[in-house]
Amino acid sequence: MSGRFITFEGIDGAGKSTHIAALAERLRRSGAEVVCTREPGGTELAEKLRDLVLHLSMDALTEAMLVFAARRDHVQRVIQPALARGASVVCDRFTDATFAYQGSGRGFDLALLAQLESWVHGDLQPALTLWLDLPAETAARRRAEARAADRFEREDQAFFERVRAGYAARMAAAPQRFARIDSSLAKPAVWAQIEAELERRGW
Ligand code: TYD
Repeated sequence: MSGRFITFEGIDGAGKSTHIAALAERLRRSGAEVVCTREPGGTELAEKLRDLVLHLSMDALTEAMLVFAARRDHVQRVIQPALARGASVVCDRFTDATFAYQGSGRGFDLALLAQLESWVHGDLQPALTLWLDLPAETAARRRAEARAADRFEREDQAFFERVRAGYAARMAAAPQRFARIDSSLAKPAVWAQIEAELERRGW
């Protein structure tokens, strides 16, 4: 069985982490090699770029180019080799996050992002993107209980509603790749939706 490329998306506070671990566990139980990774990050270079993007102020073009530079290194060194050897890759965020955060959130030119997307990863797209969706207000309440905020997490609710609309637009453009998961519910109910989606696909 060839490996699958699965991504998780959603605004900050959507609660991706526990479900990423649970999905990796479920795939491993069925015998697959699973590589769990994240963006920006996943390689030594990309993790350094992540630190810059999350903590230093910069304009939207710089931000977009840094996340794509990190992605290029990650795709070449980790994602493509893993898929090529038949492993599944579960990635915490990918290019949909750039369209949602830099595009819809910051208002950066979507056509330019689409060009960067095709330069950086050509035809490579996730087989499935699990979009953990919830209102910005609910996410803000969850974030308030968590750790110190980075540059994105300090943005206001209007920013996160724009990011959310950005994800909805990406889903509308590729409905067969996306599954929208209602992440405002309690964790077991969120996981049940993810499992139902996997079953629907016969995975
Ligand atoms: P996140 O995935 O929320 O990780 P953690 O939960 O460990 O903090 O943090 C990554 C942040 O980077 C998040 O706020 C979204 C942002 N981001 C972008 O703005 N553009 C991108 O292309 C990616 C991948 C992430």
